[in-house]
Amino acid sequence: MRIEEHPILDFSIPRREIEFFLNGRPCRAREGETLAAALWALGVRRFGLSRKKGEPRGPFCFIGRCHDCEVNVDGRPRVKACMTEVRPGMRVEIPGEEGDDDTLSP
Ligand code: FES
Repeated sequence: MRIEEHPILDFSIPRREIEFFLNGRPCRAREGETLAAALWALGVRRFGLSRKKGEPRGPFCFIGRCHDCEVNVDGRPRVKACMTEVRPGMRVEIPGEEGDDDTLSP
């Protein structure tokens, strides 16, 4: 799920596709997009767990304010996916679902 047309933004310039890994599984993203956008486009809706109760969380603000999009990146915990540009070879893990392919289910 990606926005392909917009009345103001120009999407006519094609972006190179890159590969990253989600829970060990190879995935594709567009160069320059945030990790949150790449995961959202893959159908991922549960990103992390709340700090207090361990409840499922998903992106809310998309501007780095709420902490609801935190995932593990290259072994670092609690990285804000909405503030992180996806990079080739990046290894992403959804807290609580490491190695679980169901993460990609919409
Ligand atoms: S969605 Fe709120 S900090 Fe990322």
